[in-house]
Amino acid sequence: MNEDIITLAIETSCDETSCAVLRNGREVLSNIISSQIEIHQKFGGVVPEVASRKHIENINIIIQQALEKAGVTFKDVDLVGVTQGPGLVGALLVGISSAKAIAYALNRPLVGVNHIEGHVCANYIEFKDLEPPFTCLIVSGGHTYLVQVEGYTKYELVGRTRDDAAGEAFDKVARALGLPYPGGPIIDKLAKEGNNLAIDFPRVFLEPNSYDFSFSGLKTAVLNYLNQAKQKGEKIIVEDVAASFQQAVIEVLVEKSIKLAKERKSHKIVMAGGVAANEGLRNLMKNRGKEEGIEIYYPSRVLCTDNAAMIGSAAYFNYINGNISNFHLNVEPNLELKG
Ligand code: KG4
Ligand code: ZN
Repeated sequence: MNEDIITLAIETSCDETSCAVLRNGREVLSNIISSQIEIHQKFGGVVPEVASRKHIENINIIIQQALEKAGVTFKDVDLVGVTQGPGLVGALLVGISSAKAIAYALNRPLVGVNHIEGHVCANYIEFKDLEPPFTCLIVSGGHTYLVQVEGYTKYELVGRTRDDAAGEAFDKVARALGLPYPGGPIIDKLAKEGNNLAIDFPRVFLEPNSYDFSFSGLKTAVLNYLNQAKQKGEKIIVEDVAASFQQAVIEVLVEKSIKLAKERKSHKIVMAGGVAANEGLRNLMKNRGKEEGIEIYYPSRVLCTDNAAMIGSAAYFNYINGNISNFHLNVEPNLELKG
């Protein structure tokens, strides 16, 4: 392919309204992200109805800003990518409707993107030479997957959470500690000031050969610890709880990722999703990677959490591999990562 492909991408799966313009799937010309976090913080979590309404208010402005920042107009757009799922149905619908309208009006191809695949593709933006195959740990607010990435659009799902997602565990523990939503970044910060050996929370590895995860027992252990400490009138050192909890999560994430990489003789582990922004996780993975001779990749913070640039990258790789949607494209709130 000689010609550059300019992709306009839209992401509205949760509480970020985002639009990006990319050249050829790896070069970001603009990536505008409008976060609704402050609005949802009042409620301690994302309120779906409020999210949809805010996406509608913002979407056209964000698209316009993305085009302007990229220095392009609608006429320059070759491809329209949009998050199809998983996510909140009403929120996704805003993005899909906008993307369809643009693709139809411009007579350009439309590609519905799996949000989780988007998280993986954030790494192609960050690392211009990164190519599959690699082992990938995807850790977000809604999902925890251990995947062997065979090709740009080819995934083997090896493990997943059986209950809470890693990010969800961070958010729930933060809430129990009286901290605002989203809890992950705050726990990350507090953990740096705490002792991660202070409290011995369980590391749940499940069956010896399983690559699945389970975080709800750990969350319950933290809640029990907090309740018992309160009943006994003991002082709760929030930094120590944060550090000990975080350590219990990241040890399991790291050891299972390393085990899979070794089993598959993979020399690369790639991290993706909001929790990949966690400094404790990044450091532990890097240290273990060094010991095992495995190279560790993770995107910069802004590309870890939800953004449209990663959706644009996934749309591009799907497009060049022939995965193109039609105008019957519909939201899929429970979309899985397919092989
Ligand atoms: O990928 P993401 O932006 O949205 C979903 O697709 O879910 O992930 C959001 C999740 C939230 O649970 C948030 O608490 C968590 O990522 N998160 C973090 C950090 N930054 C965001 N968790 C731990 N440490 C962080 N630094
Ligand atoms: Zn996400």
